[in-house]
Amino acid sequence: MTVPGINNVCVVGAGNMGHQIALSAALAGYRVKCTDNQTAALAKAEQFADTWLPGRVAKGKLSEEAAKAARANISFVPGLEEAAGDADMVIEAVLEKLELKRDIFARLDRICPPHAILATNSSFIVSSKLKDVTGRPDRVCNMHFFNPALVMKVVEVVRGPHVSEQTAQTVMEVCRSMGKTPVLLHKEIYGFLVNRILAALTHEALFLADMGIASPADIDAAVEGALGHPMGPFRLMDLTGIDLSYYIATERYQETMDPAQKPSPTVVEKYVKGEWGRKTGRGFYEYDRKA
Ligand code: 3HC
Repeated sequence: MTVPGINNVCVVGAGNMGHQIALSAALAGYRVKCTDNQTAALAKAEQFADTWLPGRVAKGKLSEEAAKAARANISFVPGLEEAAGDADMVIEAVLEKLELKRDIFARLDRICPPHAILATNSSFIVSSKLKDVTGRPDRVCNMHFFNPALVMKVVEVVRGPHVSEQTAQTVMEVCRSMGKTPVLLHKEIYGFLVNRILAALTHEALFLADMGIASPADIDAAVEGALGHPMGPFRLMDLTGIDLSYYIATERYQETMDPAQKPSPTVVEKYVKGEWGRKTGRGFYEYDRKA
């Protein structure tokens, strides 16, 4: 069941997170327009929908009707104007670059109907840093999904001081309607809940690898086997993207000038080589390009 007043959802950014957020919303019954200024990314997202939905049907996880309805609910639209013009809610999932997001939020504010909620899936940029480029700060908030977004249940909803109670509650309800478990943060904090906890683990894992204490594969084996995590920190970085780890650490370092926040040598090396994880076919591990 969709949330009253929210019919049309626009997802900006069809990459790692966006394409699965869009599909999750379409499965929940929203009319979704997914957009990206990279035509290749948009085509890949559409191709994913066209293979993933029948795959779920074949696996017996989704009925034929539900798959058909979800496919009919989602369209892949190149222009932001066309994608967001009738949106009741936008979920932005573009690269983790503040200026890029601010530019998109300013454009969305001009394009979207005045009632539309503008949410960001950013992993660490709080909506306070985006709200001032819009004329609707009470409707600008964080809605943070986890990778892979079609699978992971938790969504962090962050209620900055400018966010209205109604916006926070509507976003929580939309999460629930998508079969997710929203957790509400009453205050903004860098990294929210999950990434703060994950960062502590990843920071230590990178330190151990940088020092040559153990290989990434053995550190992963230790975390998976001894702590019961489904994926060790290196396997997880390959999933979420080593480029993302690099951007996050770089932005954090530029903001704080704390040397401890600099990207680790291991991450820098992988970033420079273009070995960004699953998306490039190689990160800490090797993948079939389609993985
Ligand atoms: N996309 C969509 N669905 C996927 C998927 C993907 N990339 N990978 C796996 N799945 C689905 C499979 O289709 C399968 O679905 P089904 O059981 O309903 O048929 C289910 O997930 C389990 O998959 P597998 O059996 O192939 O593999 P696993 O049991 O190892 O599960 C996993 C894969 C769900 C990715 C699991 O390893 C896991 O939970 N890993 C940890 C993920 C995690 O920690 N995510 C958070 C990352 S941090 C983050 O996102 C923050 C952000 O800010 C960067």
